[in-house]
Amino acid sequence: MNIRKLIKQMTTQQKLAQLTQLNAVYIQAGINDTVTGPKGTLSLTDEQLACIGSVLNFEGAENAKAIQKAHLERDPLRIPLLLMQDVIHGCRTIYPVPLALGASFDTEIAEECSRMAAREAAAAGIHVVFAPMVDLARDPRWGRCMETTGEDPYLNYQMACAMVRGFQKDLPDGRGVAACVKHFAAYGQAEAGRDYNTTDMSEQTLRDYYLPAYRAAVEEGAKMVMTSFNALNGIPSAGNKRLVKGILREEWGFDGVVISDYDAVLEMRAHGYCETERDCAEKAMNATTDIEMMPASYLHCIPDLLKEGRLPMCRVDDAVRRVLQLKENLGLFDDPYRAASAAEEERLFLCAEHREIARRAAEASAVLLKNEGVLPFDKVRTKSIAVIGPFADRAMLGNWACYGREEEGISVFQGVRNLLPEAEVFYAEGCPGDIAENDCTGIREAAALAKSCDAVILCVGEASGMSGEAASRAELRLSASQKNLIREVVKNNGNTAAVLFCGRPLVLTDVIDDIPALAVAWQPGTEGGNALASLLFGEVNFSGKLPMTFPRSEGQIPIYYNCLRTGRPKPEEFFAGYCSWYLDMPNAPLFPFGYGLSYIEFALSSVRADKTEMKRGESITVSVVVENTGKRMGDIVIQLYICDEFASLVRPAKELKYRNEGELFAEPISTGNVKLMGEMIALQALRTVKKYDFRIADKLYIGLIKDLHHMNEVGYIVSDGYD
Ligand code: NOJ
Repeated sequence: MNIRKLIKQMTTQQKLAQLTQLNAVYIQAGINDTVTGPKGTLSLTDEQLACIGSVLNFEGAENAKAIQKAHLERDPLRIPLLLMQDVIHGCRTIYPVPLALGASFDTEIAEECSRMAAREAAAAGIHVVFAPMVDLARDPRWGRCMETTGEDPYLNYQMACAMVRGFQKDLPDGRGVAACVKHFAAYGQAEAGRDYNTTDMSEQTLRDYYLPAYRAAVEEGAKMVMTSFNALNGIPSAGNKRLVKGILREEWGFDGVVISDYDAVLEMRAHGYCETERDCAEKAMNATTDIEMMPASYLHCIPDLLKEGRLPMCRVDDAVRRVLQLKENLGLFDDPYRAASAAEEERLFLCAEHREIARRAAEASAVLLKNEGVLPFDKVRTKSIAVIGPFADRAMLGNWACYGREEEGISVFQGVRNLLPEAEVFYAEGCPGDIAENDCTGIREAAALAKSCDAVILCVGEASGMSGEAASRAELRLSASQKNLIREVVKNNGNTAAVLFCGRPLVLTDVIDDIPALAVAWQPGTEGGNALASLLFGEVNFSGKLPMTFPRSEGQIPIYYNCLRTGRPKPEEFFAGYCSWYLDMPNAPLFPFGYGLSYIEFALSSVRADKTEMKRGESITVSVVVENTGKRMGDIVIQLYICDEFASLVRPAKELKYRNEGELFAEPISTGNVKLMGEMIALQALRTVKKYDFRIADKLYIGLIKDLHHMNEVGYIVSDGYD
């Protein structure tokens, strides 16, 4: 396809239509319907509608083909539509939510999940997925924590690369999809954790913590970027020229398509950044936001802006070129239906291979927070099991589950029955899962059931819909009825393990002492129940680590481990003085970032660095001997933390990664030397001893340790990072 030639043939209206994305319902509504259809609600003419460039939110292969066919029949230039969809953690087979994948610290499994999701998506007629979401999150009140991989820039960086690789790996043979990285930028810092709220941050924080993952995704080759809803330091992202044109395009060299978030161009009026629709269109186009995702201010206003000379045509042409180039790269000019196929959907959706990966991912991402000798349950001696709680008999797919169906997923109740067909497995709901409902009438029956069984699995937490977009919470505790249920059940049977379903860190302070064992399952997806049964009965070892801090109280928020040091840190011993502390609780959270228990004792020894200081351009090699001293197979995540002791800007007490100095804000930053504080790797070992070498150098990211307590024992952590 000769794109330059094609652009020359296009009218201004046709160009602007390419830069407009509509919800599929508008395309499917009768285009002559002037009252409720697009002509009425979006004020678009039939001619404009006929050449729209892209569509979001449709229902699989047959629907995709019908939309494309109808479009090609109408569009005089026969330019195929781009079809986009939110495939956040799976298409029909649902994988654990991204926050859970963060907890796996396992980039290979994250890549596999994305790759399999892409195959299903391509078969469903999807060309671009609105993923990965790489926003760093430090505030668990924010409902969209579930879509991120957590609070650490290194972990986010690695996961962003892995997910982009996974989605786009099969692009060349048409079975992959283009990745649209979102939400640029710093959406995760919405003030007070309230979704869509404003974001205010220093350049240092932006560049050191928030930007690396977007940049990583772009460098990994992501085809698209979506701007965020929030205003960053006073400027909404869709119209933020410094951010989009300046940083993304000019600094990082991104020449792919930038799309706004839904309605975000026009929302610049509500922000008070633009007075009129025209103003919105002008600012967004000048920022190089190529596509407006709903409604149609580009189509309405840019013709006049061009006529008046307020926008040059070359700016519009540039945006159109990028959109057409993406269509060309996806092969749409050759085959507008691409991989869309009902037969392929049938073959791929929920196939054994995808289910298997979903199960492994759910196993790798569960985090064991507490275990007073209850787990693993004995598979042979446990004859009767009570699976209790509002989430015991529900597959917890999580929010943004695309085409996933709860009835196709495995609940914990079902998972235990699958694992132990000979055992007696009972279920009781106990109480509702909805935070607002406090009906305690089922608790007595649940407690009686607990008493009559050998072991109890208590499934508590928050319902899937309680995290996600616009699902912010000011209080992060379990509902009163769930707390009651926990107390009553444990009183009746001490051999109880709780499984926590959540899309964000919760405050567990008022229940943790009541529970003998507790594992965080997040929202584990289609195979969650099978994975949890394997973990609870010791078929698989717990190896997940927290990707976000679990606070002791909402009052500690924002709380994250890699905070900057203060001039008056809290001393180790408790004393009343003028230091950075709370009068009524410790600074430390209930469970720190990187925390997670295991069934296996791994011994780390002979940690050696070939030197302990490095200057710019140099590298250090660190090695560690890891031994599985236990009796079972299992994975361990080993983490290496560093501290840049003295610098021209204050550095965190502890950082999981080693960062490329070139990416630090305000070069030269480091006036001191980098001091090593810990270690990282992921390994599978059964009574094996292995030696691992890490080279710490520019651009080389290392990460992941053994859990923090052990690090303290072996003396590599001098601070837990929260003071
Ligand atoms: C709004 C969300 O913020 C974004 O993440 C999503 O991709 C779009 N809507 C499209 O559904």
